[in-house]
Amino acid sequence: MTSPRTPYGVLFEHVLSRIDPEDAHHLTVRALGLAHAVPGGPAILRRLFAGTRSAGTGRQVLGVAHRSPFGLAAGFDKDAAVPLALLDLGFGHVEVGTLTPRAQPGNPRPRSFRLVRDRALINRMGFNNGGAEAAARRLARVRSTAAGRDAVIGVNIGKNKDTPVERAVEDYRSAARTLAPYASYLAINVSSPNTPHLRDLQGVDALRPILAAVVAETRSTRIPGPVPVLVKIAPDLHDEDVRAVARLAREEGLAGVIATNTTIARPSTLHASRARIEEIGAGGLSGPVLAERSREVLGLLRAELPEGLAVISCGGVTTADDVRARLDAGADLVQGYTALIYEGPGWPGRISRALAG
Ligand code: FNR
Repeated sequence: MTSPRTPYGVLFEHVLSRIDPEDAHHLTVRALGLAHAVPGGPAILRRLFAGTRSAGTGRQVLGVAHRSPFGLAAGFDKDAAVPLALLDLGFGHVEVGTLTPRAQPGNPRPRSFRLVRDRALINRMGFNNGGAEAAARRLARVRSTAAGRDAVIGVNIGKNKDTPVERAVEDYRSAARTLAPYASYLAINVSSPNTPHLRDLQGVDALRPILAAVVAETRSTRIPGPVPVLVKIAPDLHDEDVRAVARLAREEGLAGVIATNTTIARPSTLHASRARIEEIGAGGLSGPVLAERSREVLGLLRAELPEGLAVISCGGVTTADDVRARLDAGADLVQGYTALIYEGPGWPGRISRALAG
């Protein structure tokens, strides 16, 4: 459980954990946005959380320098509202999205649930987002600033819920066209469990035209070079299907694979009661219970992909040692999300400083 002795621990125990997770999330994003908007705010955020700007290994991945190999996974900043503030907390990169071509409300609330003893979350948000064009306008403003030009901001794209799965390729193409000009990389999300039939797109026959369309789009829209394209996969794929996606990524000229998204499994190792888990119902589970399968998938991908192709490992990472172990196992970058909720805004800076030092 979160230590109540840290200021964030006290805030979490007495305030944040008592309000709906989604309301807590909106509060946090608003607070970050405000803190970043006041004069001198970015410098204060950096001093409080990230430490020095130059901390980090400066590793070159996906054609750009990362001041830390540790980034924020998709789903926290779905609408690209506060990417620079999140970088100022000490993340090396931020993946915004998932963004769909058209705005959509997502699933009915409540749709995000904490399993506090497991330091886990179950969510069925369903790609609530304001649409690709609104995000592109926001990212264009970010990229017009000095800090924004240097920032490593990946953009995760998906399909609208009401687009028939046979026409999914058009949604990915459209989102890629709108967002590629502002993306350090594009992540094709075919692995969220909360859009009906989305994960079926991980099969080779369905996936090939989507990858091809997005790669073609980035080649035609980007100056000076194409934006790297990655595909994000589920931990629930069988080993053979993970290998098949890796081979396909290679064949279609992708820059890498992100593994993994949340799981639809409910492992027996969870501390939460069966009754609680049943009461919550459908959704993707994230947090430390995901770590073992995420590490396995990393191993499968690394065995299948040549060095030039990047693997971004995601799922259940909490400590700098966790991150280091993924890097040692062949990850080029590592991402986390759920631990931010339990550890608070000091978490990314602590990890990035430990990795640098
Ligand atoms: C997510 N995740 C996610 N992934 C994605 O590709 N697009 C998305 O929109 C979202 N949305 C989302 C919302 C919430 C509330 C959570 C907790 C997660 C998945 C996320 O990026 C990551 O892959 C998993 O959460 C596993 O990493 P952690 O959380 O165990 O570090």
